[in-house]
Amino acid sequence: MRAVLTTGTGGPEVLSPTDVPDPTPGHGEVLIDVAAAGVNRADLLQLKGHHPPPPGAPEWPGLEASGTIAALGPGVTGWSVGDRVCALLDGGGYASKAVASAALLLPVPAGLDLVDAAGLPEAICTAWSNLAGVAGLTRESAAGATVLVHGGSGGVGTTSILLLKALGARVLTTAGGPDRVARCVALGADVGIDHRAEDFAEVVQRVTEGAGVDVILDVVGAGYLERNLASLARLGQLVIIAAQQGTRATLDIGSLMGRWAGVHGSLLRKRPRAEKEAIVAAVREQAWPLVTSGDVYPVVHERLPLDRAADAHRLLADGAVFGKLLLVP
Ligand SMILES: NC(=O)c1ccc[n+]([C@@H]2O[C@H](COP(=O)([O-])OP(=O)(O)OC[C@H]3O[C@@H](n4cnc5c(N)ncnc54)[C@H](OP(=O)(O)O)[C@@H]3O)[C@@H](O)[C@H]2O)c1
Repeated sequence: MRAVLTTGTGGPEVLSPTDVPDPTPGHGEVLIDVAAAGVNRADLLQLKGHHPPPPGAPEWPGLEASGTIAALGPGVTGWSVGDRVCALLDGGGYASKAVASAALLLPVPAGLDLVDAAGLPEAICTAWSNLAGVAGLTRESAAGATVLVHGGSGGVGTTSILLLKALGARVLTTAGGPDRVARCVALGADVGIDHRAEDFAEVVQRVTEGAGVDVILDVVGAGYLERNLASLARLGQLVIIAAQQGTRATLDIGSLMGRWAGVHGSLLRKRPRAEKEAIVAAVREQAWPLVTSGDVYPVVHERLPLDRAADAHRLLADGAVFGKLLLVP
C-alpha cells in the first residue's frame, strides 16, 4: 500500500510518500480501503515532534479517514466487509489502507459522498464532545442557547456551525477576513465577526444587548481568555480546544465567580481509548442523525492526491483553507 511516511521532524518537506506492506487488523479492528484522509492542524504539530501518536499507532500522520471495510479482525461484530465507513484513528490515515478500531467507526449514510466523509470524524467528535459533553448543551437546551464559535471557518468551526444551527441555537462566529465571515454566514451563522477588523467582545455585547453568550468554543487560547470571559453570560461555559495564541494568561477569578461560569480545556487525541469510544457512541446516537438527514455535512475546501500531502500541509499552515482538506489515495 501507499503511505506518507515522515523522514524526521520538521515541516512539510519531511513527508515522504512510500510503498509499504499492508497492515493487518488486530482484535476488534478493521482494515479500511481508504477513500480519503482528513488533514488536521495536529498533523502539522506531529511533524514538528509536538503531538506524538499514542503507543501502537502507525508513525505516519492521519487522525481520520473514510473508505470501505476490506477485512475484519478477530472479535469484530456489527460490521461487514464492504461497509462504507469513516473513522477516528490514532494515526496512520495518510495511506491507501488504514487499520481502525471497530468501536471508532461511523457508518457513512447513502446520501454522503464517501470521499467527503473523511472530513467529518475529527470535527464532529470534537464539536459534539465539547459542546454537549463539556459545555452541557443538549438537543433540548441548544434550541434556546447563544453560542460563540471562534474560527467558524475551520474544520471544527464549520461543523460546529452546522450542528448548532440544526439544533436551533443562535450562533455567533469569528473568522479572518470578510470573505471567510460571509462563508460562515452562508453556512447559517447568525452573526459573523471579522476577528482581523472587529473586537469580538464588543460585537457580542452589542448583539446580545449585554447578556453575553451561553457557550464559547475557543481555538485561540491565552490571547482571547480575558475577552472570552467578559463575553460569557451568567452560568456560561468556555471550552478551550486550541491555543493558537498561547497557553498562559491571567484569569480574572472575580469575573468568573460573578458569572457562576466554567472554563474548560480538552484534547481529543490524548483521551483514553474508552473515552474516545464513548464519544463516538454518543456522536453516532445523538449527532449522526443530523448527518443522515443532510443538515450536517463536511465542508470540503479541496481534495488533493495523497502524494501531495506536503502541499496540503503548506495550504493549512498558510491559513488558506476553509473547512477541510482531504487527501485521496
Ligand atoms: N482539543 C481538541 O480535541 C482538538 C480537536 C480538533 C482540533 N483542535 C484544534 O482546534 C483548532 C481548530 O481545529 P480545525 O480543525 O478547525 O483547524 P483549522 O481548520 O486549521 O482552523 C483553524 C481555525 O482557527 C481560526 N483562527 C485562527 N486565529 C484566530 C483568531 N485570532 N480568532 C478567531 N479564529 C482564529 C481560523 O480562522 P481564520 O483562518 O478564518 O482566521 C480557523 O478557522 C486547531 O488549532 C486544532 O489543532 C483541537
